[in-house]
Amino acid sequence: MKLRVLGSAAGGGFPQWNCNCVQCTAVRAGSPNHRARTQSSVAVGGPDDWLLVNASPDILTQLQRSPALQPARAVRDTGIAGVLLCDGQIDHSTGLYMLRERGTPLPLWTTRPAHDDLSLGNPILRVLSHYCGVAWNELPLDGTAFTIPGVADLRLTALPLDSKPAPYSPHRESPVPGDNIGLVFENVATGRRVFYAPGLGEISPAVWEAMSTADVVMVDGTFWTDDEMIRLGFSQKTGRSIGHLPQSGAGGMLEWLGRLPATTRKLLIHINNTNPILDEASPERQAVEAAGVEVSFDGLEISF
Ligand code: MLT
Ligand code: MN
Ligand code: ZN
Repeated sequence: MKLRVLGSAAGGGFPQWNCNCVQCTAVRAGSPNHRARTQSSVAVGGPDDWLLVNASPDILTQLQRSPALQPARAVRDTGIAGVLLCDGQIDHSTGLYMLRERGTPLPLWTTRPAHDDLSLGNPILRVLSHYCGVAWNELPLDGTAFTIPGVADLRLTALPLDSKPAPYSPHRESPVPGDNIGLVFENVATGRRVFYAPGLGEISPAVWEAMSTADVVMVDGTFWTDDEMIRLGFSQKTGRSIGHLPQSGAGGMLEWLGRLPATTRKLLIHINNTNPILDEASPERQAVEAAGVEVSFDGLEISF
């Protein structure tokens, strides 16, 4: 079974359309130390049928770059057996619009809070009902494992994360369990597990348990420092306050990843264009690599 990284950037992508910071400028200029990235999404399964995990605004480009997701068994076909969303944010849900030409309702897995946000605050699901519609499946939050019809050998478990819903959520300032989730993907044929959480603000005991028992950990790489967006003058908000644990510093992601066994494969994903690790020659990137942590990139595939 494979996990294919379709998009490794956070919301905005890299370069971000309106950004002329040092890094976005460098990637636009073709710097050999900077790699362009589309917005956050992975596909799990294969060889022909996959679960799309998060539907990025860049999905059409991502699919063009991923021939395995178009097995072409019929004149109209897709390798996307279903879609699961980790939250109801723009970067993880807008791609649903691009799947509207389906002939049958799109099998969709979200938590109830994310479903409600995508029906009220940002009513994508109501709009889609005028096209293919969705066949919604509520994600269990109590640790019950579930499967995706068509994706053989994949067993999933969702973990509610301490984080925040999207700005347009009717309960933005009063988060509820299920606004954001992390996932364990298990290949039941091999027993191997991947923990995936592109948005992770806090390592709760349950999250740590899932990380410690996974063979591969692919987690939030949004920011290097908590005040990154503030120091650059792009925002007034800290990373932690919008649900993203920074990599550096006390209690940061690198410290947590450093406590995992040496045999655990560790990767960062959902990387913001402001994060200095996107410059492959930067001391920050070297620190990540020296810690045995990989920076995922569009097109990366992991077998498990
Ligand atoms: C986030 O992960 O914090 C959001 O996706 C950011 C965004 O897309 O605006
Ligand atoms: Mn995001
Ligand atoms: Zn930028």
